[in-house]
Amino acid sequence: MAFYLPLPPMKLQKLYIETYGCQMNVVDSEVVVAILQQNNYQLTEDVNEADLVLVNTCSIRDNAEQRVRSRLREFKRLKQQNDGLTVGVIGCMAERLKEKLLEEETMVDLVVGPDAYRELPALLQEVESGQKGINTLLSLEETYEDIRPVRMDRNHVTSFVSIMRGCDNFCSYCVVPGTRGRERSRDPETILGEVSNLFEKGYREVTLLGQNVNSYEWDEKVQPVKFENLLERVAQIDPMLRVRFATSHPKDMSDNLLQMMAGYPNLCRAIHLPVQSGSSSVLSRMKRKYTREHYMDRIDAIRKILPGTSISTDVIAGFCGETEEEHLETLSLMEWAAYDLSYMFKYSERPETFAARKYEDDVSEKIKVRRLNEIIALQMKLSLESKQRDVGQTYEVLVEGTSKKSEEELYGRTSQNKVVVFPRGTFAPGDYVNVNIQSCTSATLIGITV
Ligand code: 5AD
Ligand code: SF4
Repeated sequence: MAFYLPLPPMKLQKLYIETYGCQMNVVDSEVVVAILQQNNYQLTEDVNEADLVLVNTCSIRDNAEQRVRSRLREFKRLKQQNDGLTVGVIGCMAERLKEKLLEEETMVDLVVGPDAYRELPALLQEVESGQKGINTLLSLEETYEDIRPVRMDRNHVTSFVSIMRGCDNFCSYCVVPGTRGRERSRDPETILGEVSNLFEKGYREVTLLGQNVNSYEWDEKVQPVKFENLLERVAQIDPMLRVRFATSHPKDMSDNLLQMMAGYPNLCRAIHLPVQSGSSSVLSRMKRKYTREHYMDRIDAIRKILPGTSISTDVIAGFCGETEEEHLETLSLMEWAAYDLSYMFKYSERPETFAARKYEDDVSEKIKVRRLNEIIALQMKLSLESKQRDVGQTYEVLVEGTSKKSEEELYGRTSQNKVVVFPRGTFAPGDYVNVNIQSCTSATLIGITV
């Protein structure tokens, strides 16, 4: 008979993770935590007690990368005080810069791209043995579909669910196809399973995520599952579950999708449809695959088929060769579309994109700033008008939590994705409450429950 000495229990390692960039990165961080929790790591919110610091990064604009670089300098100081600390860079910057990141940021121990998170435990062992760990292989299949993300949201009411990864559009300004690889969709059964599980746990809203959600397609042998089929099945999980999705590409925004949505009130009446520019010539240089007219036709379709839907967008100011007339076309389109919300950016040239290779970044910084400011000023006006239209109306609000300004108030969102603040009463996060809107700012609706 053999006797085995019990192995000493391995000390739990503490993981601190910081996330930059888009909502996809938020879910990716949750996937990373799930992978590491199964490998002796426990999440901490205190960076000072961490054994491992991971920074999930974004490359979309240069300033996003600069922010991460300055944060890395702070972690460098922390490492000088704590020899045992491992620092890893994951996500889009890891993918874009690869070994160069290890050369430029010598304190970084680990560089892992968005498709290689399953390798993290093995790479951490390499780091432990004194080497640097790096894996930036992109995959044609990886969707992490079997991994249940460890939710790090604070409200336990709303959550993100990734349904596809990568992008095949190659807009000329964009690094994403290079950093996140080819487009691939996730098995619908695993998506439905994850969403049902969230609902059972008390979540009341999910946002289906992908770089280009409306080109989702899963090849079932009998019949392919397209985005509208998937969305309908998610909507059917429970009428008390709100469903949002982002981001949609205007070229794939079909009438079929909108008509299906009209039959399900729990499919939120808010559509994010990035326009980027209101000028067909700029859109052509951006390789966006639609014109100003096509975009306007899609907005008309949304207004007709789903009246009362809020529409938001992304806009880039000062793209290569943008003339004053082209910029004015962006302003006039924004005014026409009466956007409820916009995310507005100055063009930032990204290495190795089509635009960086073929066009000159020839709009001066001064003009870019001025055009961006005009776009922001216009959107401030449109946002305020959008909120003012809601004053006097009653909306169903899903409560998310306590208002930042007062313990006595709760906040939540309308189906149109507008934030509403109202007196707490006896309500709690996860409740649906009817709120009559009494007043507003350009960012928030203020109401009373009815
Ligand atoms: N410069 C500025 N903005 C960009 N975006 C993407 N690439 C760039 C770039 N090189 C913006 C687009 C996109 C959003 C996520 O970021 O508007 O929709
Ligand atoms: Fe970038 Fe265009 Fe893909 Fe969006 S659709 S991620 S802007 S390439």
